[in-house]
Amino acid sequence: MYGWHRKSNEGEWKAVKAKYQFNNEYCKDCHGDKHDSLMQSPHAIINCENCHGPALEHPSNPTKLHIDKSRQQCLRCHSYLPYPTSGRANIRGIDPDKHNPDIECSMCHNPHKPNLGASKGGKR
Ligand code: HEC
Ligand code: HEC
Ligand code: HEC
Ligand code: HEC
Repeated sequence: MYGWHRKSNEGEWKAVKAKYQFNNEYCKDCHGDKHDSLMQSPHAIINCENCHGPALEHPSNPTKLHIDKSRQQCLRCHSYLPYPTSGRANIRGIDPDKHNPDIECSMCHNPHKPNLGASKGGKR
């Protein structure tokens, strides 16, 4: 379907391993607690890998997945952007200069269960 191409190129592409699993089920067997709380929360539509990076070579090398607690990690989605058509404006936004500046978001919000008002392990 892609027209003329070097025959050996097909094998080369078949050998390429996908970096992203794009599937939270993939994490469930080993991180069932995180999976279950995420999937019952407003963050259920987010891939684990969106925050933790591609899972290729994990778990054979667990340090490959990183934990980013920076405010920037959350502000990718939660700084208010008024794009009218993309749906981006539907994600609740905060003003990072006014909303508890200098404190990591995960000190107050559980990233795997960011339900306001519902507390778990002391975190909102
Ligand atoms: C076959 C088991 C297995 C699967 C599947 C798996 N993990 Fe892990 N993961 C581990 C082990 C083992 C560790 C290291 C011990 C620990 O922290 O629990 C780990 C550690 C982690 C850590 C902490 C790394 C650190 O530096 O402390 C994160 C984050 C993580 N996994 C996320 C994921 C995500 C996201 C997925 C799905 C895309 C996933 N894991 C799939 C077994 C697994
Ligand atoms: C919105 C971003 C985000 C998503 C989505 C997310 N995580 Fe996390 N995860 C974090 C952050 C931030 C931390 C560090 C939390 C802390 O230490 O307060 C963390 C910590 C972890 C840890 C190690 C520390 C611990 O508490 O045991 C594991 C394992 C983990 N996440 C697995 C997962 C899995 C599996 C999924 C999907 C089912 C997932 N995460 C989805 C942001 C996220
Ligand atoms: C990939 C985009 C994305 C990232 C990254 C992300 N969020 Fe969210 N977040 C959402 C969406 C989508 C919702 C559900 C719609 C809403 O409530 O605005 C949501 C909801 C929330 C809510 C409201 C929960 C409720 O009760 O309605 C909080 C609080 C929250 N997120 C905190 C965080 C924190 C803290 C981080 C960083 C660890 C983070 N988010 C990272 C997309 C994201
Ligand atoms: C000191 C604790 C604390 C920190 C740190 C914190 N928050 Fe919050 N956040 C709250 C509380 C309490 C509320 C609910 C009351 C309110 O709206 O102020 C809230 C509300 C929210 C809401 C919902 C707003 C709405 O319109 O409904 C979002 C989204 C959110 N926070 C995201 C974040 C993000 C992203 C960060 C990091 C950049 C962060 N928070 C840091 C305590 C905190």
